[in-house]
Amino acid sequence: MNDLRKSIVNHTYGTWRAQREWEKPLYITKAEGVYFFDEANRGYLDFSSQLMCSNLGFGNKMIVDAICKQAKKLPYIAPGFVCEVKAKATEALLGVMPQGLDKFFFSTSGTEANEAALKLIRQYMAPKYKIISRYRSYHGATSGSIALTGDHRRWFAEPVNKIPGVIFGPDAYCYRCSFGLEYPECNIQCAEYIDYMIKEEGNVAAIFVEPVVGTNGIIVPPKEYLPRLRNIADENGVLLVVDEVMSGWYRTGEWFAMNHWNVQPDILTTAKGCTGAYTPVGITATKSEIKEYFEERFLSHGHTYAMHPLAIAAVPAAIEEYKKLVATGLVKRVSEHLKMRLHELMTRHECIGDVRGIGHFWAIEIVKNRKTKEPFNTKADKASLKPLMVGKISNEALKQGLYIVSWYNHFIVAPPLTISEDQIDEGIEVLDKVLEIADEKMEE
Ligand SMILES: Cc1ncc(COP(=O)(O)O)c(C=O)c1O
Repeated sequence: MNDLRKSIVNHTYGTWRAQREWEKPLYITKAEGVYFFDEANRGYLDFSSQLMCSNLGFGNKMIVDAICKQAKKLPYIAPGFVCEVKAKATEALLGVMPQGLDKFFFSTSGTEANEAALKLIRQYMAPKYKIISRYRSYHGATSGSIALTGDHRRWFAEPVNKIPGVIFGPDAYCYRCSFGLEYPECNIQCAEYIDYMIKEEGNVAAIFVEPVVGTNGIIVPPKEYLPRLRNIADENGVLLVVDEVMSGWYRTGEWFAMNHWNVQPDILTTAKGCTGAYTPVGITATKSEIKEYFEERFLSHGHTYAMHPLAIAAVPAAIEEYKKLVATGLVKRVSEHLKMRLHELMTRHECIGDVRGIGHFWAIEIVKNRKTKEPFNTKADKASLKPLMVGKISNEALKQGLYIVSWYNHFIVAPPLTISEDQIDEGIEVLDKVLEIADEKMEE
């Protein structure tokens, strides 16, 4: 096993890290339900659905069978041909997408879904070309998507791997409001400022947001925010584009986060949960005006693996599985339990500054001091490879059998939707112990 591990770490690049940090990754041999197992058959409870994508847990027979069947029947055919699985995936999507989004581009990742959106926006909106994104955001690793990204991963791509015309607006992050205001007296200044930006900048083609921010904080905006962004977009003749790569697929308790506010975007991008992570698929969904625009115009976009039959075979199967799972009532019930347990955790740990989220999508933000909200670490710390308090805690959790993703000052609690109340309790028990590491380092 050690030889195999060595071969991997010596000859492949670890993602988003200094390579020396990837010295001894866990060697995983199998996974079932909400657990994965290492070579010593030690189980780890998955509290983040891997990278917030394994929404249906591991070992789903329906999805695996659909993939195997497609592998035998027709694993690949070029994008220009049609076949049964392409029809099935399209029909299944039409049944769950927000109203008005009725033409799709299939790719193989979230970043590609966003790259496709970028091209569509810029051709459709030309000569307008500017795009408003936000600092607390991640949209993917390729040039266009990393340019849209607000977090530190963009810093390393600048200036060459970066497209011009992206500007950053304020976050809807009430816990640390950029304007120093408080909801609701703030009158949603974070949305109003975007209106100001559009009018002052000129040439703005789109507002591009994660409706519930994922990695960068599980930030659920105030209820007025997205409806107001919709108005602002309409008043200014700008597109509203939502990245639901992470927030889609019942992560927030709805097919898509936008459904919570009944707001229809012009373009929606998604990936991750659309197959429950059983195969890699990205989807860019557009409204009918965009569809019509391209009827007589050249769509200058495509991939060899666009609409890859083997990959998209998992889409209709996953959609069926989401429907069945949600109908059992488990998802709703467990999300309430999770919410209650996380708030309870906050009463026991001084280091928890904020607990926020929706559905199966939560952040635990830690601070050195609850009153001043001083963070243990910053974005710059993460970029400069400084050891982080959240890293220390999540490493300790892993030793105790709990896998949880952390960012520079928060943890992402996003378990598979198949998790039970007892399994939530099991994870909370570990968090209860390991958060003491930060409690002991609180400052007066
Ligand atoms: C909101 C959001 N958009 C885009 C991406 C990029 O997706 P992928 O890693 O599949 O390219 C991610 C990945 O975490 C994401 O969270």
